[in-house]
Amino acid sequence: MLSWMKGVILAGGTGTRLHPLTRITNKHLLPIYDRPMISYAVEALVQAGITEIMVVTGGTHAGEFLRLLGNGHEHGIDRLSYGYQERPGGIAEALGLAERFVGGDRVVVMLGDNIIERSLRPAAEHFEAQRSGARVLLTEVSDPSHLRHLGVPQLDEQGRVVHIVEKPEDPPSNYGVTGIYFYDSDVFDVIPTLEPSGRGELEITDVNNHYVRQGTMEYDVLEGFWGDAGESIDAYYQVNDFVRLHGANKG
Ligand code: DAU
Repeated sequence: MLSWMKGVILAGGTGTRLHPLTRITNKHLLPIYDRPMISYAVEALVQAGITEIMVVTGGTHAGEFLRLLGNGHEHGIDRLSYGYQERPGGIAEALGLAERFVGGDRVVVMLGDNIIERSLRPAAEHFEAQRSGARVLLTEVSDPSHLRHLGVPQLDEQGRVVHIVEKPEDPPSNYGVTGIYFYDSDVFDVIPTLEPSGRGELEITDVNNHYVRQGTMEYDVLEGFWGDAGESIDAYYQVNDFVRLHGANKG
């Protein structure tokens, strides 16, 4: 158990890319194979040894998360808290709601629509060994049209991240930044300094670029499958097909 690290799962937003399905429920409650989407993020964190978790949601279906997860014990969570985001002001804004829950600890943040094949534990251990700063998980993506929907790092010759570009027209590498982020507790000092982006949101990429500029951003390249089931209806079905055939969160 990693008692020095808390987990935050972000499950707010409007899910417009999955309309009309998400007019009648929250995206993270839609099924992925045989379970609601958010169950996979919970399982990923618990399997990595993170058992104090906050779920941040929003909109009109927030009560359903309580119905699904309850106090978390059935899912292996020791302490489960809930946060409510009043309006979809961005991933970084949603994370800001977890400040008191995280306290002075470190935090792993997982977007509730991200599904992974393999364990997060190696990355969590690497972050444990890291003195301070942040760590992102990258995934290799060969298709530039896919990269245009993601955060994409620019790397120097030594392989260090020099900048992350959100949804680039011209992707600077063949890696996407997944929605899994590790931060030290300074992240809560960074969030209030952010300005809303063109889409009116506090962007997690701006948080990450703060750590890049500070020289304390590290990364791992995720092994196995990664999917963002909220990216499009086709991505949603690709993730479903993968999980049905191969499973998720394997050790
Ligand atoms: O999935 C990986 C990508 O996720 C990264 O490569 C991008 O850098 C990152 O910005 C993010 O991009 P998306 O366009 O996929 O973010 P989206 O707006 O779909 O939000 C992702 C999750 O965050 C979603 O599952 C719900 C949560 N969220 C989002 C917003 C805007 C919130 O909890 N509150 C919010 O206000």
